[in-house]
Amino acid sequence: MNKALKNKKVLITAGPTREYIDPVRYISNDSSGKMGYALAEAATNMGARVTLISGPTNLERPKCSKFIPVINAREMYKAALAESKRADIIICAAAVADFRPKRISKRKIKKPEIRVELTKNPDILKSLGGRKRKNQLLVGFALETEDMVRNARKKMLDKGCDFIIANKHTNIGSNTGALVLLDQTGRKTPFKRQTKKNLASKILKSISMPNNSSKTA
Ligand code: CTP
Repeated sequence: MNKALKNKKVLITAGPTREYIDPVRYISNDSSGKMGYALAEAATNMGARVTLISGPTNLERPKCSKFIPVINAREMYKAALAESKRADIIICAAAVADFRPKRISKRKIKKPEIRVELTKNPDILKSLGGRKRKNQLLVGFALETEDMVRNARKKMLDKGCDFIIANKHTNIGSNTGALVLLDQTGRKTPFKRQTKKNLASKILKSISMPNNSSKTA
């Protein structure tokens, strides 16, 4: 087995976040967590000590050294910032809800009163980009419905990450995905549709040994 990540500390965020409106309702998205969990398992198999911070999913806990379950974006943000200090590689695969209700009602909101005021959640990847250490590798995902590569490149520059993985919204929830890995030098590595398990090990190889990656993987 390839042990390219031996002794490396890898931090991964995965899954959706859930932003409660009242005790029974929330804002979230369709993320299954499959890509992040596949990355956690693949990194563990490559010898890394993996910390996985996960929003609510229906998946079994993957092989990893530390598993931190969270519900909402602020919990994920707090955990990610604390864990990031020790990480050599950070991969933000979570589909973080960009907004949360300004107030969480303690009781179920009744129909005539429904009015939800939203406020912005912290951007975890961007915050990590702002405090990135010299030898720390930061990787983001970009979920796009159109202009996938152009929008992903913009996000990579804006959030200060070393790599970004452009991802079509049609990959959400699926066991397979087709992706494009972008780096700061302008290199584009497309990965044809394949299982997220396969994608995970190829992504990890490409980011940890960028000079070996092929044109199409
Ligand atoms: N991300 C994050 N914290 C947020 C929002 C996004 O860490 N509050 C991370 C995601 O984990 C992903 C990257 O930022 O690695 C891009 O997420 P994406 O949902 O594609 O984009 P947004 O930044 O939310 O921008 P937009 O919704 O405008 O496309």
